[in-house]
Amino acid sequence: MSDRRKIFIFENQYTLTNYLLKQWVFVVKEAMDQRRQFTAALSGGRTPVEFYCRLSGLKDFELWRHTHIFLTDERFVVHDHSDSNFQLIKKNVFDYVNIPDANIHPVNTAVESSEASARAYEKELIQFFKLTLDGEWPRFDFMLLGLGTDGHTASLFPEEKEVNEVKRLSVSVNREKLEHQRISLTLPVINNARNIVFLVHGSSKAKIIKKIIDREKQFPASHVDPLNGELVFLLDKDAAKELSYQNSYSHCGQAIMVEC
Ligand code: 6PG
Repeated sequence: MSDRRKIFIFENQYTLTNYLLKQWVFVVKEAMDQRRQFTAALSGGRTPVEFYCRLSGLKDFELWRHTHIFLTDERFVVHDHSDSNFQLIKKNVFDYVNIPDANIHPVNTAVESSEASARAYEKELIQFFKLTLDGEWPRFDFMLLGLGTDGHTASLFPEEKEVNEVKRLSVSVNREKLEHQRISLTLPVINNARNIVFLVHGSSKAKIIKKIIDREKQFPASHVDPLNGELVFLLDKDAAKELSYQNSYSHCGQAIMVEC
């Protein structure tokens, strides 16, 4: 296992979330010390909801004013739609913490098409991260990813061309089986992050997480491999039940770290 990739297995979702919360605070403070700001891209879905609820408990966390939150992906729906990832994070985090509105960077879906939305998001990323040259990528301090049972992450789905996008920062995704068109960060942006965390729990993800950890390349999540950063898999026992590992070490008394 490359030393950039760590796999932690937790007894349950509660201890996993405790650990993730501590990691968040650590990375925020490290980013503040080094760059006077902290940037994160957060995913939608059900898995991170408990973490978002716990994050909202950091109400007076004075560093929220230097925290900038983007989305890893979004559905092409209005922001108050029940399927909106922005809405999910707003009702679980933004509505409870003192983060300035200017620090919240939703995907603008109030445009004529998902392609226009992806272009607008890309423009915001370029402006915020002060990118000048082609081939420069935003570098997020924290990238929180989920994993679909089909091996997708963000809105990068198997056998879709967007997985292979190497020029754009964000793309629109029109996949027949999906209820909504999507907008997603691309792999070069994801892989340029300093800290990438896959949050995976439940037995329904056991089969696919083993394939991802075994780097089976037909799955988009297997292509998440930071260029110059950390990749951490946070799994509960149910999600990890199909993993075979040679060694395991106790980690901070709440998890075991395994080498696969
Ligand atoms: C989304 C997410 C997506 C999610 C996976 C896992 O917009 O739905 O960004 O990539 O992380 O689909 O979803 P669950 O956590 O609900 O299993």
